[in-house]
Amino acid sequence: MKLIKKKIDKLRKKILKYDYFYHSLDQPIISDAEYDYLLSQLYNLELKNKEFITADSPTQRVGSNLIEKFKKIVHFSPMLSLENTFDLNGFLEFENRVKKFFDKNRLINFCCELKIDGIAVSLIYEKGILVRAATRGDGYIGENIIDNIRTIKSVPLELKGVSIPKRLEVRGEVFMLKSDFLELNKELYVSKKKSFSNPRNAAAGSLRQINPKITAKRKLIFICHGYGLFKGMEYFRSHYERLIQFSKWGLPINQEMLICKNHVEIFDFYKKIEERRYFFNFNIDGIVIKIDSVELQKKLGSNNKFPRWAIAFKFISKEEITKLRDVKFQVGRTGIITPVAYFDPVCISGAIIRKASLYNKNSIEKLNLHINDFILIRRSGDVIPKIVSVIKKNCFKNQKKILFPVFCPVCNSRLIENKEDKIIRCHAGLICNAQKKKALHHFFSKNALNVTGLGPKIINELIKKNILTNPIDIFYLTKSQLQKLDKIKEKKSLNIINAILKIKKISLKRLIFALGIPSVGEVIARKIVINFKKLDRIINATILELESINGIGKEIATNIFNYFSILSNRELVTRLSDKIYFFESSEINLKNKSFFNKRIVLTGKFISFSRSELAEILIELGAKLSNSVSKNTDLLIYGKKAGSSKIFKATELKIKTLSETKLNLLIK
Ligand code: IVH
Repeated sequence: MKLIKKKIDKLRKKILKYDYFYHSLDQPIISDAEYDYLLSQLYNLELKNKEFITADSPTQRVGSNLIEKFKKIVHFSPMLSLENTFDLNGFLEFENRVKKFFDKNRLINFCCELKIDGIAVSLIYEKGILVRAATRGDGYIGENIIDNIRTIKSVPLELKGVSIPKRLEVRGEVFMLKSDFLELNKELYVSKKKSFSNPRNAAAGSLRQINPKITAKRKLIFICHGYGLFKGMEYFRSHYERLIQFSKWGLPINQEMLICKNHVEIFDFYKKIEERRYFFNFNIDGIVIKIDSVELQKKLGSNNKFPRWAIAFKFISKEEITKLRDVKFQVGRTGIITPVAYFDPVCISGAIIRKASLYNKNSIEKLNLHINDFILIRRSGDVIPKIVSVIKKNCFKNQKKILFPVFCPVCNSRLIENKEDKIIRCHAGLICNAQKKKALHHFFSKNALNVTGLGPKIINELIKKNILTNPIDIFYLTKSQLQKLDKIKEKKSLNIINAILKIKKISLKRLIFALGIPSVGEVIARKIVINFKKLDRIINATILELESINGIGKEIATNIFNYFSILSNRELVTRLSDKIYFFESSEINLKNKSFFNKRIVLTGKFISFSRSELAEILIELGAKLSNSVSKNTDLLIYGKKAGSSKIFKATELKIKTLSETKLNLLIK
């Protein structure tokens, strides 16, 4: 429970920070998609844990913080937001909910429209004259932007035609064409001003200018998609009819509207719009599906966030266009230099992507990348982000071209390219701080020496303070040294020291893997151990011997041989073997057949192994591990502070138990 509360608090803090940057400073630091994602995460968490909902949670408010500069306006009725779905099931659930209100067999018309990615505004016409315009604000109180709205050419200052109501509230979207956005950014660049990251932010920034003359220069467009007040016009019974009437009065509407009778027609509309999505000169992020009958809309009403009669069916994009901000050259654990592109975050296949690996020098050259280029991002195999191409060479000249560095960005050693595999490496090894950090993270990680609590942050701090220069130093670490680190108190330092003391006995395979020899992962490490059995023999193996192992080629054999040819590496392994007992799987296998095919449960804390270490040993011996004691359990192995319920249950079910001391006798 505490964890959930913490998670909720963290999410709220994040969202409030982004709100401030977005609404008060007009300088978004994350994409809308990412914001939506965080908000929906919070929403779902709160939905499952209602006791944590507070009045000031971002989920309880509809729109944004209000900017100080504009006068406030109270909306006649709240400007709500829309419920979202990303798949047809979400729509079907919505439809079911709607149908529960009415006779199941009642035919319902749905009005489907484009979901334009812009800024929601409310316009009030009195006797056909535009008298008031407001932003959504927090949904209840907006900002008076009438002077700015008046500069938008598509907003009629006076309605034309007949039967114009006394008072009419039109709601719609202000947005900017993609082409105008590119032009604007070009101009801003020339006059050395900050550019906008997407058309929506450009529209927001332009609309909320204190000086309407600036707004007038920005090419903003208005489209209406709804209404607040519609007094005296009750005889227009459907949403669609009302929009058509709007158009007759001179209000712009989007022509891409379709009345659908069921989910098949709706899905067809969605698919067709999705196919054409990138051909529109404005951004859309889905379709909006509305119950067309005004009478039904009224009956359904709304909750405090959404109307119950409409839903947004959003696109999950496979590709997105964004802006390249930077390329950083990362130094990997084995010295390989990987360029990583950082760009404005985009949401692709439901995930937020803000960086992509560029693999090597070749791929940078092929793309001919420059900072601020617009790039097309895809997730290969729907998972790994990749820059597919540069969409439009950036319109600004003299932007920094991305070039592969000649020297290591961390330790400044000259980089060397392997002509065969084209990989560029820093060969400084542990002298290079980046490699040292990663090598040590790897050394103590879960599948290597598995020191719980010793995460990358602590390791980096220990390296910075020169306490940790190689893996051996860890065995001399003291509680007081740890307590001098950021946010480490008595308990945490004690836990880490205990975790270090626990690494008395580990498999040889883990050691070989932990060393971080290039291309030696867990599978290769296991093969080496199975083949050579003893540490001595591994250290002294020749390339030929190594190469004779099935699955180990010349390159890996050379890497292993080279690693153990370096004196300091041999010393490290020898010093480690003074501290730790490295066992080989075969050594255990011979002695125990007693665990083979047995269902075993572990409980309590073990002194001579970490829990995962013991689990690994038992699995190697053919055991099957499970979490709880049942009548199928064969053996319960217990350590210190063992769970009394498990021991009790085992005794009750007459299941064998084994203490750690007895276990040690069996497997050593
Ligand atoms: S209807 C009660 N129709 O999407 C809200 N909204 O994510 C009724 N939007 O705040 C809104 N295109 O600003 C509606 N065709 C459309 C829309 C649309 C874009 C915006 C609108 C709303 C936001 C919700």
